[in-house]
Amino acid sequence: MAESKVLPGSFGTAVPDEEPPAKIAKSGPKGRPIWGVLPMLRDDTLNFLKDAATYGDIVPLRILMSTAYLLNHPAHVEHVLQKNHRNYRKTPMLGKLRPVLGDGLFMSEGELWTRQRKLMQPSFLKERVDALAGKMADTIATHLKGWEERVASGTPFNLSEDVSILTLEIALQTMFDTGLGADAAGFGEAMHLSHQVCAERVWNLTGITERLPTRRNRKFNEAVEFLQGVVSRIIAERRANPRPSNDLLSILMDARDADTNEVMDDQQLRDEVMTLMLAGHDTTATMVAWALLMLSQQKELLERMRDEVDTHLAGRMPEAGDLKPLDFTKRIIQEVARLRPSIWWFARVAINDDNIAGQPIKAGTTVFISQYLIHTHPEVWDDPEKFDPDRFLPDQTAGRPKFAYFPFGAGPRVCIGGGFAMMEMTFVLAMIFRRFDVEVTSDRDPVFGNLITLRPDDDIWARAKLRLRH
Ligand code: HEM
Repeated sequence: MAESKVLPGSFGTAVPDEEPPAKIAKSGPKGRPIWGVLPMLRDDTLNFLKDAATYGDIVPLRILMSTAYLLNHPAHVEHVLQKNHRNYRKTPMLGKLRPVLGDGLFMSEGELWTRQRKLMQPSFLKERVDALAGKMADTIATHLKGWEERVASGTPFNLSEDVSILTLEIALQTMFDTGLGADAAGFGEAMHLSHQVCAERVWNLTGITERLPTRRNRKFNEAVEFLQGVVSRIIAERRANPRPSNDLLSILMDARDADTNEVMDDQQLRDEVMTLMLAGHDTTATMVAWALLMLSQQKELLERMRDEVDTHLAGRMPEAGDLKPLDFTKRIIQEVARLRPSIWWFARVAINDDNIAGQPIKAGTTVFISQYLIHTHPEVWDDPEKFDPDRFLPDQTAGRPKFAYFPFGAGPRVCIGGGFAMMEMTFVLAMIFRRFDVEVTSDRDPVFGNLITLRPDDDIWARAKLRLRH
């Protein structure tokens, strides 16, 4: 184990390149005969991992014939995602997403990933994302006209579904510069179904039932075919009639490999578009839904945010340059992302033998990392369950280890759409709350569901009212 200059329990003072003494658990939660902890992990992932984390910061988990490890310390996250990232690949469990995402950026590895990331990174540079601000704000404004009608009727509506439609509209407008017209509703439904089926399949290790001609499998195949068909058609139309546009599709079509000067072929382009739509749409919708719920319950913070929005925007549409001054709004979003990170856990597999802070990791071993657990680690965060946006003030973040907070992942495979998502969430919250009050009417507070994203276990229903000014 590397000698450490870290005082026990004092995260944040670590000397770079040295790892603090690990709390390695000798054993983890007891599993079942043969299966080990797999049924518990599958049936109630969050509560199982929360329990496992009480055993230590490196916890062995027996799954069938092998041992995986839960890594629950910022230094171990840094090891896997940054310092020794070359030794870790994504888990084969993600293969269940391949029918939808193909060889897009989320799924690819090795040379293909390196080439594609290099090719696509410039499309997500700040100035490119800033150029999409107008489209984003217009789409939100159009969508919120529907809220005005809801105010008039006073009827509760499905807020979760509504924000999911909104983020899909934003994804479509920024990607294709069009709302898809008649295909829009079908696109949303097909996205939803394919996401749900992929999530169900992640734990189906043998995959036998996925090949059976069941109604659900047929529907899934039809949904994927429909989505790919729409995207391929748009690509073909755009190739046939190129037109100047600053939408993401045009940017991706024009992106050239710096070494070979080649552009993407149609199939790669389709996989990347599908990936960006799927990776970007549901993650953002889920976080916006949590933010609306949490803010509707935190009136004081909501009023602080509104003051900032009113003072700064003074009724006009938000623009890219507003993100910096809307600093408290940003901190609110950061805090929502801490407590409700849409992607809240993932797994990596060691390629060669490794050693993490004293724990030997054999080639082929799976390690689990959870944003949710690290974001609420009691030795890193004071009063971790408390909603407190001010923990992101500079003086409070100063001593915190970098890998204590990573809602968008970290290292070379960090989310490519983080800046896009932050702008989108800021605009949505600012534009909703400056005009509306959201009164949640669901019978009970939702808790975490057990899907890939940290969704509420039930749809949130709410009533929109015109904002009461104090
Ligand atoms: C609140 C919203 C979002 C959250 C919380 C989120 C989170 C993440 C995380 C944690 C990863 C890393 C996964 C891993 O390392 O295994 C990731 C990767 C990725 N995200 Fe996001 N994301 C969000 C929005 C978006 C948006 C808006 C887009 C596209 C416009 C996007 C596109 C991607 C892609 C393509 C990857 C794969 C990157 C690579 O492996 O090179 N995400 N995201």
